[in-house]
Amino acid sequence: MSTEITLTRPDDWHLHLRDRAMLQAVLPETARHFARAIIMPNLVPPVVKGADAAAYRERILKAIPEGMDFDPLMTLYLTEDTDAADVAAAHASGLVKAVKLYPAGATTNSHSGVRDFDKVRPVLEKMAEIGLPLCVHGEVTDPAVDIFDREAVFIDRVLDPVRRATPGLRVVMEHITTANGVDYVKSNATDLGATITTHHLIINRNHILVGGIKPHYYCLPVAKREAHRLALRAAAASGDVRFFLGTDSAPHTDENKESACGCAGCFTATNTMSILAHVFEEENALGRLEAFTSLNGPTFYRLPANGSKITLRKRENAIEYPKKIISGEGPVTVFDPGFPLFWSVVA
Ligand code: DOR
Ligand code: ZN
Repeated sequence: MSTEITLTRPDDWHLHLRDRAMLQAVLPETARHFARAIIMPNLVPPVVKGADAAAYRERILKAIPEGMDFDPLMTLYLTEDTDAADVAAAHASGLVKAVKLYPAGATTNSHSGVRDFDKVRPVLEKMAEIGLPLCVHGEVTDPAVDIFDREAVFIDRVLDPVRRATPGLRVVMEHITTANGVDYVKSNATDLGATITTHHLIINRNHILVGGIKPHYYCLPVAKREAHRLALRAAAASGDVRFFLGTDSAPHTDENKESACGCAGCFTATNTMSILAHVFEEENALGRLEAFTSLNGPTFYRLPANGSKITLRKRENAIEYPKKIISGEGPVTVFDPGFPLFWSVVA
């Protein structure tokens, strides 16, 4: 059994870095292992225009610790007022690598998102023309739809119609949580990929709710039943080029998570690579970890894979990692997979 693996340096194709004190605290946790990340635009206020993304990128670059290299790949937050020409210019300049669609009300800071998809038609058509990917938070917000069904219903009611109406639109289904998501991606040969988070490979809905409510396992889309988790693991470990890592590492302070109305998000940046090596070893797929973390994402985004490498080593004894990251806004709990980890990044 191999106890050391070397991979092309990974990228995170879905990451929340926030701003100010939180940005300062969480950025090193990602930059330590990852070369690039697709940066989510759901700040308050959101990153809507090219100029907003340019300013946010500068704030991120300033927060990178000495001696670390990190390239933030910026996104724009799609609103019903988004200007197609502004999007095209931000893409042409090389600044923006994707546009993010939040159905209004679906998740954290999504109230400026889209209610009426007809209003964003011109932007989607421009994106199809220029090859700019749309990253989709794929959940309907209809209060009549059960929260555990919202991804599957979104595929039928929104995603498939939008894709059919906009030929050539390149779409990433973000953080898929269901076998329905896996099957939909597999049934499309081109223009469709999906990110899978670290935590959705580990937890199902029982982990959140059985034996007491676990706010640090609550995220959106919420983890589903076990059969769905197994489908995600199979997709991630398959090597299929359409599936790649997007951690959705989403820091909230403990105060905001451990609350009567707790925020959605799991903070996994710190131990993601250790967890993924563990999962892929369990799946007898360590040889396909690199495809998931380092190769498939660049292929979808039409970017070169990173030139540098990282090495992970499996130790005899469980590794230690911080239980919390201390930010200027308060402590942030690091995702607890619920079992000991033995793999760590050593170089
Ligand atoms: O769990 C989540 N947290 N899901 C999202 O879609 C947003 C994110 C956040 O920003 O906290
Ligand atoms: Zn997210």
